[in-house]
Amino acid sequence: MMSEAVNQAEPFLVPSSVRGRPRVVALASGKGGVGKSHISVNLAVALSQLGRRVLVIDGDLGLANINVLVGVSPEYNASHLLEGVRSFEEVVVPYREHFDFVPAGSALAKLAELELGAQVKLMEALELYKRPYDYVLVDAAAGIGSNVRLALSMADEVLVIMTPEATSLTDAYALVKVAAKYGIDIPFQVLVNRVRLAGDAREMYGCLNSASRSFLGVEAGYAGYVYRDRVVERATREQTPFIVSFPSAPAARCITALARRLDGEDVAAEISAP
Ligand SMILES: Nc1ncnc2c1ncn2[C@@H]1O[C@H](COP(=O)(O)OP(=O)(O)OP(=O)(O)O)[C@@H](O)[C@H]1O
Ligand SMILES: [Mg+2]
Repeated sequence: MMSEAVNQAEPFLVPSSVRGRPRVVALASGKGGVGKSHISVNLAVALSQLGRRVLVIDGDLGLANINVLVGVSPEYNASHLLEGVRSFEEVVVPYREHFDFVPAGSALAKLAELELGAQVKLMEALELYKRPYDYVLVDAAAGIGSNVRLALSMADEVLVIMTPEATSLTDAYALVKVAAKYGIDIPFQVLVNRVRLAGDAREMYGCLNSASRSFLGVEAGYAGYVYRDRVVERATREQTPFIVSFPSAPAARCITALARRLDGEDVAAEISAP
């Protein structure tokens, strides 16, 4: 059976390699615990496997930081970079081939509170457009606070992560609303995580899109879904991305398809149900 939801997913923007600078994608949700960090890490691996150079910025100060998910204990973090005591080269962690990350630091939250100029200061510290990355994935924190707005304002596009729960819908809507309120006019693509049936993802997307279209005048695109899968929890315990340990698991195949679509491929992959 061909998965309709995947086949009907809308195309993303032009690949970065065509544009000559990194494409900055923020992963945000409003609601916490929906899978942003796991998706950031696994999507980064999938893109790196396509030969793309990826930088992940951990904008989340919660427990499941990127370094925990990949089992690395970094010496320095974004705070050292922003405070000017360490260089980008000292702070960045080369985790795998074509996959680097910047660990979270509390200075990010302080910087975000500055609001005006915070984005410029962060972009300057990261020197994003001088480095040879194809993609920069920003794993935003939960909520719709100033650090999330900072992540959104840096991005070329947003991947809104939802789950098939009503609270996820209201929080995702709040995220789109706050972006509209602050004049952040970038494309939104909805990815539904932890789905049992592909149809549930379409339904969640439809609800969010009709609300944001009617009340905010914002049209969100559909990025597809990731199955609810036991390998995600195992991978968390083993501190290895599930796409590395279990590449043929349903969740891993969804992420691979997402990476290919993000990278501009017209993927008509069959993602069979778990
Ligand atoms: N596709 C999935 N199938 C099963 N479990 C999942 C899936 N995606 C995420 N999880 C589980 O959901 C929990 C939250 O995941 P994760 O930490 O990535 O969310 P988050 O959105 O980054 O959370 P936070 O808002 O706290 O940063 C984890 O325990 C993870 O194992
Ligand atoms: Mg997280």
